[in-house]
Amino acid sequence: MSTNDNNKFQAIIAHAKEYGFVFPSSEIYDGLSAVYDYGPWGSELKKNIRDYWWKSMTQMHENIVGVDAAIFMHPTTWKASGHVDNFSDPMIDNKDSKKRYRVDHLIEAHAETLPEQESAALLSEMEKLLAEEDFAAVKKLIEDHKIKCSISGTANWTDVRQFNLMFKTEFGAVASDNQEDNIVYLRPETAQGIFVNFLNVQKTARMKVPFGIAQTGKAFRNEIVARQFIFRMREFEQMEMQFFCRPGTQKEWFEYWKNARKQWHLSLGIPEEKYRWHPHAKPAFYADNAGDIEYEFPIGFKEVEGIHSRTDYDLTQHQTYSKKKLQYFDNDIDEATGKPYGNYVPYVIETSIGLDRMFLLILSQAYDEETLAKEDGSSETRTVLRIPPKLAPIKLAILPLTKKDGLPEIARNIMNNCRDEFYCFYEEKDAIGKRYRRMDAIGTPFCITVDHQTKEDNTVTIRYRDTMTQERLPIAAIKELVKDKIK
Ligand code: GAP
Repeated sequence: MSTNDNNKFQAIIAHAKEYGFVFPSSEIYDGLSAVYDYGPWGSELKKNIRDYWWKSMTQMHENIVGVDAAIFMHPTTWKASGHVDNFSDPMIDNKDSKKRYRVDHLIEAHAETLPEQESAALLSEMEKLLAEEDFAAVKKLIEDHKIKCSISGTANWTDVRQFNLMFKTEFGAVASDNQEDNIVYLRPETAQGIFVNFLNVQKTARMKVPFGIAQTGKAFRNEIVARQFIFRMREFEQMEMQFFCRPGTQKEWFEYWKNARKQWHLSLGIPEEKYRWHPHAKPAFYADNAGDIEYEFPIGFKEVEGIHSRTDYDLTQHQTYSKKKLQYFDNDIDEATGKPYGNYVPYVIETSIGLDRMFLLILSQAYDEETLAKEDGSSETRTVLRIPPKLAPIKLAILPLTKKDGLPEIARNIMNNCRDEFYCFYEEKDAIGKRYRRMDAIGTPFCITVDHQTKEDNTVTIRYRDTMTQERLPIAAIKELVKDKIK
């Protein structure tokens, strides 16, 4: 059963802003809808998640290599991939308020106000009609349920229409008479940069099928209903891997990647019950099998990663549109025929995870308001981000107890000795308790305090974020201890 804790979600959004993780984009101009900037600790956390994914895909797999393709691609790419014709959402406008809604979101919001059985019946009817692309019937469903616009309060609706989600822009300085000549798209997924480079990579890195190509980078979608913080953005980052395999082996590889990706999530110490697998009843136009890894966000179970069996659709389409062969010669022997497998267009299993969504997952899992009993019988709240140490923006805070007696110098020396291995932070302002709390709030797993005893025996206090326990430790042991904990 999924829970919906909007208060926690709002608290996370406020915390992310207050502590330098995520800011609304161009906030001084009142922001830009569904676009966000990452602050000092947010950009560090985001980089750590990206690095962790990249390392697990490339360094840890001999048969996966990376690319970094451009955001702009030849416009025919998107014709071939099907995005020009198919990458759209059904929308409806309220004629009075002029507000545009994604029809599934409009109906879902209404369903939430209904008793359980009625709600389930409405949602299942909606899913059926959307799958059949019967938009006239979807409009009738909205009218029959007297669903109203939240702004105008009326049920005065246009027909349901498809809106393409790709952003267009103009390319080059010279305007052509035919404006369409200059149109380029901002890529709506990073995957196509991998497909068009399939042979470049295979040949230059001398890869043998099965092999994969990984990429991280920005993608853009003109999401019509963009809400829920960084869950659904108009500019976001994807971490995608296309795994090229022999036709006929795609089922096995789909299962392999489904499991491998689940293990990646669990390797971050996130409990298994926070995840569930959601198979797609009707995979996207390019896939023969697909499903999502869903995580239980405070706003309920939602997709964080998609695994798609994309068949040979993309390579075949690019082959047709470019008139260039995108085939692989497989000289392994097929046991059935005793001959090499020969030339074919490989099948593809894709793993695709949103970096921003993974970031939100980490924040949602980490955010904790812990009630602490005080000695006088009252209580206080400690807000702590229990971020896995290997992803934490700052790994080690080094805090001299006072600003005098040579303690800052010792602390600086420790900092200088450790900072080439992991991100350290030095702070001498405010009482030590206050400094600990600030470090808790940004998820720093370890704090070192340099005190007067340090001068006598070269030991410091290490404080652990999660338990708040403290112990003494020789200065010489700090670096190895932290390195070991963030491995
Ligand atoms: N290449 C396949 C593809 O793009 P997708 O399911 O549309 O598939 C993959 O997107 C992942 O990208 C999603 O699981 C999600 O994590 C992320 N994503 C998609 N749209 C997003 C958006 N508007 N904002 C943030 N992340 C998004």
